[in-house]
Amino acid sequence: MAEHGFGRQVGRRRHLLGIAGLDPGQIRAALDLAETYISLNRQGGPRDVMRGRTLMNLFFEASTRTRTSFELAGKRLGADVINMTTAGSSVAKGETLIDTAMTLNAMHVDVLVVRHDQSGAAALLAQKLDAAVINAGDGTHEHPTQALLDALTIRRHRGTLENLTVAICGDVLHSRVARSNIHLLTTMGSRVRLCAPPTLLPAGAARLGVEVHTDMRAALKGADVVMMLRLQRERMGSSFVPSAREYFRFYGLDAAKLALAKPDALVMHPGPMNRGIEIDSAVADDLQHSVIQEQVEMGVAVRMAVLDLLTRDLRRNV
Ligand code: NCD
Repeated sequence: MAEHGFGRQVGRRRHLLGIAGLDPGQIRAALDLAETYISLNRQGGPRDVMRGRTLMNLFFEASTRTRTSFELAGKRLGADVINMTTAGSSVAKGETLIDTAMTLNAMHVDVLVVRHDQSGAAALLAQKLDAAVINAGDGTHEHPTQALLDALTIRRHRGTLENLTVAICGDVLHSRVARSNIHLLTTMGSRVRLCAPPTLLPAGAARLGVEVHTDMRAALKGADVVMMLRLQRERMGSSFVPSAREYFRFYGLDAAKLALAKPDALVMHPGPMNRGIEIDSAVADDLQHSVIQEQVEMGVAVRMAVLDLLTRDLRRNV
């Protein structure tokens, strides 16, 4: 880990553009470091590994959890944090992604966290910028810190990421969360079952090294973890599902379907949840199974770990 570092080298810096390409050692190291940040966060202890560094959050798409947790993570590490949303920026005036990026580059930002509706946007910025780039979700491609926080949550409950059966259910077609989780969980030696109506499964899903189901009952049978995904209507040009009510009946997680999973199965959701569409409210709030709030706590710790790892080279160079 010390020799080859964390993330992917593009230009002078290392970046976190996706889970694809990370090896089990890198994933484990990030989760182990995040564990130390969980304790520090609970004790309220300040850290200063990013003191004097600038973190820019550049969000071209809506976000609640991801943006605020990156902001909090940066501040807890002592960084100066700037949040830029496109509504109030020159992007709204038609500036291109590259022009925006070059403007930010001239300001000597150390880390850029970017969310964009185009797959590959984060990788493009990594080529153009001097900053370390963290992909906070690019189109339907990847959302690596979400997969890391999901993995941390699972590992804390199950003690391992090996030999688990994880059912990922819902709008897999549009989900970068699903893609990053598939990479991470299969890399760590778990089995992934995808479950969605045929219209919401990506072409070639079976080639991802996963089981593919259209029947939720088969997908949930004996599962250790049930991860539900939101119907991403903003990415749907036309209707992909006949009606919300019918969708909930066949693909919504309720107590009856959950009963098919292991008795102590974890229920997860990256948020934002659409209660009554992909998940029943009672199941989402049932703390016997639901770890949805814990995922949010893990999100801050994981983002602190990733920021720490990607700025180590800066500390070494001073
Ligand atoms: C997800 C995203 O934006 O990819 N949200 C998140 O970051 N927690 C999932 C979603 O929008 O449904």
